[in-house]
Amino acid sequence: MNYSPLQKARYEYSPKLPGMLRNGIADICVKEGADTQSVADQDKIKALFPNTYGKKEITFEKGQNTSAAKKQVVGVILSGGQAPGGHNVVCGLYDALKATNKDNVLIGFKGGPSGLIEDKTIIMTDDYIDQFRNTGGFDIIGSGRTKLETEEQFEVAVEVCKKHGVTAIVIIGGDDSNTNAAVLAEYMAAHNTGVQVIGCPKTIDGDLKNEDIEVSFGFDTATKTYSELIGNIERDCNSSKKYWHFIKVMGRSASHVALECELETQANICLIGEEVAAKKQSLSDIADQIADAVEARGNNGENFGVAIIPEGIVEFVPEFGKLIQEINELLAGEQTAAFNALPTREAKYEFIEKGLTKESMAVFAILPQQIQQQLFLERDPHGNVQVSLIESEKLFGALVKDKMAARKAAGTYKGKYAFLTHFFGYEGRCAFPSNFDADYCYSLGYNAFMLIQYGYTGYLSKVSNLAAPAEEWVAGGMPITKMMNIERRNGKDKPVIRKALVELDGKPFKYYEANRAKWSVETSFQYPGAIQYYGPSEVCDITTKTLALEQG
Ligand code: FBP
Repeated sequence: MNYSPLQKARYEYSPKLPGMLRNGIADICVKEGADTQSVADQDKIKALFPNTYGKKEITFEKGQNTSAAKKQVVGVILSGGQAPGGHNVVCGLYDALKATNKDNVLIGFKGGPSGLIEDKTIIMTDDYIDQFRNTGGFDIIGSGRTKLETEEQFEVAVEVCKKHGVTAIVIIGGDDSNTNAAVLAEYMAAHNTGVQVIGCPKTIDGDLKNEDIEVSFGFDTATKTYSELIGNIERDCNSSKKYWHFIKVMGRSASHVALECELETQANICLIGEEVAAKKQSLSDIADQIADAVEARGNNGENFGVAIIPEGIVEFVPEFGKLIQEINELLAGEQTAAFNALPTREAKYEFIEKGLTKESMAVFAILPQQIQQQLFLERDPHGNVQVSLIESEKLFGALVKDKMAARKAAGTYKGKYAFLTHFFGYEGRCAFPSNFDADYCYSLGYNAFMLIQYGYTGYLSKVSNLAAPAEEWVAGGMPITKMMNIERRNGKDKPVIRKALVELDGKPFKYYEANRAKWSVETSFQYPGAIQYYGPSEVCDITTKTLALEQG
């Protein structure tokens, strides 16, 4: 590997631990709190997790370590999409494990959860681990999206654990992966395998958030990276004054990433999917909302601006959801082949026109041709439209173009409208973790080992009070079952961790709502600049506006 100057410098960075974990392994004791209950459906969740339900919340404190001396062989898994800081979770885990006993072993399961059932492993050594300290990416062991959820998979997992003498598994993932961590923990306990399972909260999307998880790791760095780029574009368009930029940002469904970027950059427009759903807005309503800003600014001679679009926006537009559902049904099964065989775009259009209800056809008809084409082509193996691949930044850029043409014809709009589009997603997932994510992730890993060492299973590694300096962070653990409720998934009732959407009565959204009229018409841009790793703490260690508003 060739190392950039920054990479070399980052190897020297010492991540900050919460104060209570700073005194060395021998000086960390555990304090048990109250028994816990799941957030809803207590009886059902208790029945599904008889061995791991209702355990106590715990925090660590300075005091004599009373954990049992036992050789630990820990397996670690990275699950799902990359998020900055994943490497530091592994490093923190490794350092705590080796500091406790140099004979302890850390095994990486390669390529995600499938690494456990396919027995693909790597044993971590100092030299290997040191190459990944404070770096972005998941390439230390790779990641994957296989779900660990069936009895057969668990049986194989037990065999693989036996073969390697594994005493604990740490699963680093999002809501689904941590739900599966809880199910695996229950299985391991019920079968007296002696294997503990601990989860760590990861996802740039920020939707793994609740009373116990203040923020998932990676959100801080990814949103700072996108915000830097959005700020640069704001400055470019404020210089040339000739384009509207439509910028889609990642975040599969919830709009946390878009909202945080908006709070950082004060772009003219930010769509929030959750608000669109609550107000039952149509595509045309949303385009009008943007067009109002374009018109007001254009009539003031400001023919430029920036609009932030969350990746999941179209899922929240009720009429669009209905359209997708109808197209999926229309082209299901044998119809897929018949549709695909139609020779021309016109023939395909006619087929769709005949099959859709009048309301859905009206929505389909206003879509730009390119988007109609995507609805024809971007289909998964079951024939369903892949909503996440729809280029909503182009969709809204084009819908607003039609609106501006109509307003010009009506004489209300005097400006000029030209738009450019961007999608920021993968650019942010493997950035060098910010100091916040480097510290938070290292702490999560270190803390995960303390939970293992004290014999806990089915717990999530929890580090809280995150808006304060790291010294004041609180380290501990929470039973994953506490975060669960029962939801209907694929026609079945399943215990899952609730996904957090943007709360419209939450402080971050309220702050945006209070300012957006001004931001949309005036040029109130804020340029966050690049993530700073070295320099004053108020520049380098600050976390997100979302967290600051939520906690402060
Ligand atoms: P996780 O939920 O696994 O953290 O992944 C989130 C995410 O980065 C989304 O923001 C995005 O929609 C999706 O993954 C992209 O997935 P893929 O890497 O498979 O293209």
